[in-house]
Amino acid sequence: MTYLADYYCDVLIIGNGAAGLSLALRLAPYYQVIVLSKSQINESCTFYAQGGIAAVFDESDSIESHIEDTIITGAGLCDVNIVKFIVTNARKCVQWLINQGVSFDQESHDATNGIIRYHLNREGGHRYRRILHNGDYTGRVIETTLIHQAIKHHNIHIFEHTNAIDLIISDKLGILGKRRALGAWIINNNCKKIKTCFARAVVLATGGAAKVYQYTTNPNVISGDGIAMAWRAGCRVANLEFNQFHPTCFYYPQAQTFLLTEALRGEGAWLLRPDNTRFMPDFDHRAELAPRDIVTRSIYYEMQRLGVNHMYLDISHQSKNLICKYFPTIYKKLLTFNLDLTKQPIPIVPAAHYTCGGVIVDLHGKTDVDNLYAIGEVSYTGLHGANRMASNSLLECLVYSWSASEDIINNLPNFTKIKSLPDWNNVQDINKEELTIINNNMHELQSLMWKCMGIIRTTKQLEHAINRILFLQQEIGKDYINFHFSKNLLELRNILLVAKLMVQCALKRQESRGLHYILDFPKLSKIAIPTILVP
Ligand code: FAD
Ligand code: SIN
Repeated sequence: MTYLADYYCDVLIIGNGAAGLSLALRLAPYYQVIVLSKSQINESCTFYAQGGIAAVFDESDSIESHIEDTIITGAGLCDVNIVKFIVTNARKCVQWLINQGVSFDQESHDATNGIIRYHLNREGGHRYRRILHNGDYTGRVIETTLIHQAIKHHNIHIFEHTNAIDLIISDKLGILGKRRALGAWIINNNCKKIKTCFARAVVLATGGAAKVYQYTTNPNVISGDGIAMAWRAGCRVANLEFNQFHPTCFYYPQAQTFLLTEALRGEGAWLLRPDNTRFMPDFDHRAELAPRDIVTRSIYYEMQRLGVNHMYLDISHQSKNLICKYFPTIYKKLLTFNLDLTKQPIPIVPAAHYTCGGVIVDLHGKTDVDNLYAIGEVSYTGLHGANRMASNSLLECLVYSWSASEDIINNLPNFTKIKSLPDWNNVQDINKEELTIINNNMHELQSLMWKCMGIIRTTKQLEHAINRILFLQQEIGKDYINFHFSKNLLELRNILLVAKLMVQCALKRQESRGLHYILDFPKLSKIAIPTILVP
């Protein structure tokens, strides 16, 4: 007897951002692909990206300087071969995106010889203007274009509002041979039945884990699910201590924070104290365009020193034309708070933004488990080291969706037949009391991580964090069995696991490097090695 799954496809892609959708489009000419989206199809970090994509498109710039800037920003922990691999393939992959219909702002377009000069942004760590963008809504243009192409393709099937719960892994079913991924348990949020999806290859493209923090630029769906599923499946993870905080997020206690792109500083915006004086030149010769870890720590330091809860970002000395042309979304959004970007400094604070570590993968996005890939922010490739350089992330998504597609197209195995699968109980609506407990635990965790695993850490805080996380995990362990199954419970279970892995990584790194600044070990050690956790 053979077990029959609810769905079959050649490749199951969990996640619908730049990484997942680009891969789906690259595979669609050859294979049937299912793409899972936890919420509506465009809800992803990709959609909210502002600054753009880094790639060498200007003659005065060079591949070598892009490589060098990435390595310097990564504070000695980048894998140089991976940096070279990504940067040298950058232009080709960005051109693929342009061919899909993504447009970037242009300086000029010579129709007779077809030569286009793009308007390039500059951001922290980059010595040159090298960031292709579309106003300040680059992510929206990329995501909607990729969705448009994916929806049109008969080989791509998008399941919206569908959560991957866990991966189906061979050895957990007692199947002999090398551990491999067979598919996933999935649930549609509107239907109460857990279903199975079998695939010849499974790809995690679930983004990072910034929901672990109280304040973040990320949408609510980014809860570390991919990292948690991979760990449970037996994959190693690395460098999870390096959580990037974006220096300039709008500060307005009554509203949810949103990003004020680093490209504003690329166009000359200053960071100011409440008394209107600049402070970044006191901290770094690159001033407002120093790498993000340095800018964030400087803001934090000044806020602590002065006992204030925000600093200011000011671009009002630039022309209104330039501001409205390149930052139209931010300009309009701030007006709804009665703030005029062209006339006054804007209050800002740092917030959690990007997960530099993740699931360890090779050059093709392959994880430790056969037939299981991880691409995009969920993965650890070695590109970002101890601190990601701005706009290198969308680039990593594009390059790895291409390199993973090459491997999948050439090496897709057959389906593994199995006899049976353990049954899940069907799902019932969660009751109010259970929901309150889950939400309270989530808030406790986010506030704990913000306080203890934030911009500056101490060993004592990290030890306190781990103890609380273990306690919450224990409680959730019981709830996971006894509670009615829900999306919130799923997320809490995953985010608790990822938080634990982050703190474990942080405790292992007894030095201060890049985004990991720990008061007990303020110095940089001579040897730079990634932190690797083995399940
Ligand atoms: P995402 O785009 O985050 O997509 C992941 C998707 O996976 C989500 O849509 C989610 O629905 C789905 N998912 C997650 N878990 C599950 C599950 N269990 N089941 C089913 N689906 C699931 N980077 C740059 O390079 N340049 C920029 O200008 C830039 N600006 C940014 C601005 C903001 C506000 C933010 C938040 C990030 C920015 N970044 C930028 C970072 C960059 O956007 C992300 O790193 C990148 O988009 C990640 O793409 P991804 O495909 O890996 O994941
Ligand atoms: C930004 O536009 O400031 C974000 C860029 C990034 O995170 O790479």
